[in-house]
Amino acid sequence: MIGTPPATDRPFVHANCAISLDGRLAYAGGRRARLSGPADLARVQRLRAASDAILVGANTVVQDDPSLRIHAELLEKPVDTRLTRVVFDSTGRIPESARFLDGSLPTIVVMTEGAGRQFPAHVTVVRAGTGRVDPVVALDALAGQGIHKLLVEGGGQLFASLFRLRLVDRLTVYIAPVLIGGSTAPTMIAGVESDGPDQIVGLQRESVEPLDDGILLTFRPRPIAPGGAAPL
Ligand SMILES: NC(=O)c1ccc[n+]([C@@H]2O[C@H](COP(=O)([O-])OP(=O)(O)OC[C@H]3O[C@@H](n4cnc5c(N)ncnc54)[C@H](OP(=O)(O)O)[C@@H]3O)[C@@H](O)[C@H]2O)c1
Repeated sequence: MIGTPPATDRPFVHANCAISLDGRLAYAGGRRARLSGPADLARVQRLRAASDAILVGANTVVQDDPSLRIHAELLEKPVDTRLTRVVFDSTGRIPESARFLDGSLPTIVVMTEGAGRQFPAHVTVVRAGTGRVDPVVALDALAGQGIHKLLVEGGGQLFASLFRLRLVDRLTVYIAPVLIGGSTAPTMIAGVESDGPDQIVGLQRESVEPLDDGILLTFRPRPIAPGGAAPL
């Protein structure tokens, strides 16, 4: 279940994804991989139902065209949650035809200050940063929209930004028993290179559970040491 909000005003941020055993989020070139089994799919629906909003990066909307809704048929009990969909889309490049924009759920597009894209009236546009969406400013703004429990579902670039800025409060990863391989299949964390131990993001294991034919891992961030980087 998603946790209680952190001490700051920003939302509690729960990152969740499914990966192959070799850490890939998708097939070569970013083609969507369906890695979860039935129990994991149901778990994700429960997570969604316990969240105020789901956030994804613009590439995930462009490449996967996800609905980001709660699939109630996978839940044991009906829920009356009205989940908000959120995308970080600096320039407003997600296609008009995306299911994300179908108006069936409250929808927020976070763009940069100068982005001029117009969206349909049902879409709330939030401005955060210049050049690329500033996650710190964006999360503050989402809290201002009443979002206190935020589920982040990828992809790897968005995860990288949030982990680097130490904005993730919990991570759940379903590891499917498959190997994707190659050099273009996206990994769970993209973004800047780590060329040594100072750049890695340290996590603490909370639990390890068998699920479907794979494994569900839960982590929380390691606390930041006084005056420096997170201890490893
Ligand atoms: N297996 C899973 O659980 C799962 C879940 C989700 C996605 N995926 C896969 O992941 C792949 C997409 O991942 P991805 O890494 O290419 O892209 P992504 O993280 O979905 O989106 C990245 C894009 O978001 C926008 N963005 C805006 N502000 C950002 C910020 N501060 N930090 C990072 N991104 C920001 C950027 O585009 P602009 O500069 O244009 O704003 C950036 O290129 C797809 O292949 C999809 O199938 C898998």
